[in-house]
Amino acid sequence: TAHAQRSTDIVTLQAHILQQQTRYPEASGQFSWILSALSISTKMIAAHVRRARLDDVLGAVGSQNVQGEQQQKLDVIANDILLRALGGREGVAIVASEENEQPIILRSDDSEQRKYCVLFDPLDGSSNLDVCGAVGTIFSILRKDRRSTRPEASLLQCGAKQVAAGYVLYGSSTVFVLTIGLGVDMFVLDPAYGAFIRVAEGLRIPPANKSYSVNEGNRLGFPQGYRDYLSWAQEQGYSSRYVGAMVADVHRILLQGGVFMYPPTRKAPDGKLRLMYEANPMAMLIEQAGGKAYCAPGQRILDIVPDDIHQRVPVVLGSAQEVDHVMNRLAAAA
Ligand code: AHG
Ligand code: MN
Ligand code: MN
Ligand code: MN
Repeated sequence: TAHAQRSTDIVTLQAHILQQQTRYPEASGQFSWILSALSISTKMIAAHVRRARLDDVLGAVGSQNVQGEQQQKLDVIANDILLRALGGREGVAIVASEENEQPIILRSDDSEQRKYCVLFDPLDGSSNLDVCGAVGTIFSILRKDRRSTRPEASLLQCGAKQVAAGYVLYGSSTVFVLTIGLGVDMFVLDPAYGAFIRVAEGLRIPPANKSYSVNEGNRLGFPQGYRDYLSWAQEQGYSSRYVGAMVADVHRILLQGGVFMYPPTRKAPDGKLRLMYEANPMAMLIEQAGGKAYCAPGQRILDIVPDDIHQRVPVVLGSAQEVDHVMNRLAAAA
């Protein structure tokens, strides 16, 4: 995009992480090991995603073998890969996943060494797999709070405390988008080398773009302000784009601008998306790129203090001006 600074040197994700260590005190060796676990896991998940339909065929045959194992669904495969890779990293104290009801306490010893919590959505938009659509992985990294007595409680920090966040989009190419609080950088997996290569640094989201991304089938169940916004946007000639995988929809908006929304609906009064491993990491990325992320007028997503790792939250994020248009309608209808 016009706003991004194009990378000219050849820098892999690994080299990028090493570079950051010298610029950013947070990026201790431990932290770099965690990012490298995310790098190898998402390459492995990408390989599984690329073979999705082939593995289904092989799975049916495999289920007749002596072990009689069921072919695992890809969310479970992706979850296992992330748990295995992160579980081997000294710096990870706790992991929490969409696919596990309870957080997993890996290391509870109270050594002086700084430890981290990693939260993730192993496979986002997994229903898209049935139709060869884009899917992703989303992650959020928090510092373990040493003062909290129960390890679970140290997870329940507001998104503003995230030390890093990112996603990997398994689309027509595999893209890794990362922030450690110093802007947003983008890497593309080169399948020939098996490495994520940096393609852009300091991504900036365009301040406006007449484009919205929402499941409009739920429109009649949206609060009045959202319906007012949609009527207004349609009069203004806005485009509608919705993949149905948050990673793919947010990636398009990060690069091209616009607004992504998952409003409250009649069925889901807090919306569908999960605060800690969907909304928070995306909100950090969007804000780091100069955009905005709110759940209601005046309420930044990153300020919400969670009380449950799986809690849901309405999401409105994207270009600053486009988010303002939505918030103005919501405030007027309140
Ligand atoms: P997941 O596949 O991780 O459960 O997430 C699905 C989410 C998100 O990716 C997407 O934005 C949203 O569900 C789509 O929901 P609707 O089908 O209700 O529009
Ligand atoms: Mn998801
Ligand atoms: Mn998921
Ligand atoms: Mn799911």
